[in-house]
Amino acid sequence: MDTANSYTRTAIGLHWLVAVAIVGTFGLGLYMHELPFSPDKLKLYAWHKWAGVSIFLLVLLRLVWRLTHRPPAPPAPMPAWQRRAAEGAHWLLYLLMLAVPLSGWLMSSAKGVPTVWFGVLPLPDLLAKDKALGELLETVHKTFNFTMAGLVLVHAGAALKHHLINRDDVLARMLPMLKKP
Ligand code: HEM
Repeated sequence: MDTANSYTRTAIGLHWLVAVAIVGTFGLGLYMHELPFSPDKLKLYAWHKWAGVSIFLLVLLRLVWRLTHRPPAPPAPMPAWQRRAAEGAHWLLYLLMLAVPLSGWLMSSAKGVPTVWFGVLPLPDLLAKDKALGELLETVHKTFNFTMAGLVLVHAGAALKHHLINRDDVLARMLPMLKKP
C-alpha cells in the first residue's frame, strides 16, 4: 500500500494513535480539573500525566518519521495559498502537540508535584519549585490546549471538506478504508 500517493502505514498508525490519545487526555484534563480534592482526583491526575508524557514521546517519534519519510504531494488542483495554509497548520499542530505536554510537565515541576511515569520512572523536575510560575504555567497549559483544540477542529473540518465537497483523496490517504477499491 505504501506508494508515493499515500502515507506509510506507520505515519497513519501514529496519526490516529496520537489523535485518540490527545482527545482522551484533553477530556480527562477538563474532567479532573473540576473534581473536589480526593484520592481518586490524585489518581486521575497521575493517569493524565502518564498519558501526557507518553503522547510527548509518541509525537517525537512521529516527527522523526515525518522528517525521514516524505508525505504524499497535495492533490493537484489546490490553490497555492491553501497548500501553504495546510502545511503551516500541520507544523503548528506538531509544535502544539509538543508544547501542550511540555507545558504540563513544566507546570507540575514548578508546583513541586513530581511526575513518576507509570508509577515506576521518576521524571526530572524541569524547574525549581515556584508557586507563581506554577500558576502562570497552568494558564499556559490551558491556553495551548484550547488553541490546539481549535486548530484540530479546523484540520478535521478541512479534511471532511476535501472528502465530501472536493471529492478528492485527501482524507482517504490517512483513512485508507475510505479508498474506492
Ligand atoms: C497532549 C497532552 C496533554 C493534554 C491534551 C492535556 C490537557 C489538559 C487539559 C485540557 C487540562 C484542564 C485545563 C483546565 O481546565 O484548566 C489539563 C490540566 C492539567 N494537566 Fe494536562 N494535558 C496534557 C499533558 C500533561 C502533562 C504531560 C502533564 C504533566 C506531566 C499535565 C499536567 C496537568 C495538570 C497537573 C493539570 C491540572 C491543573 C490544575 O488543575 O491545577 N498535562 N491538561
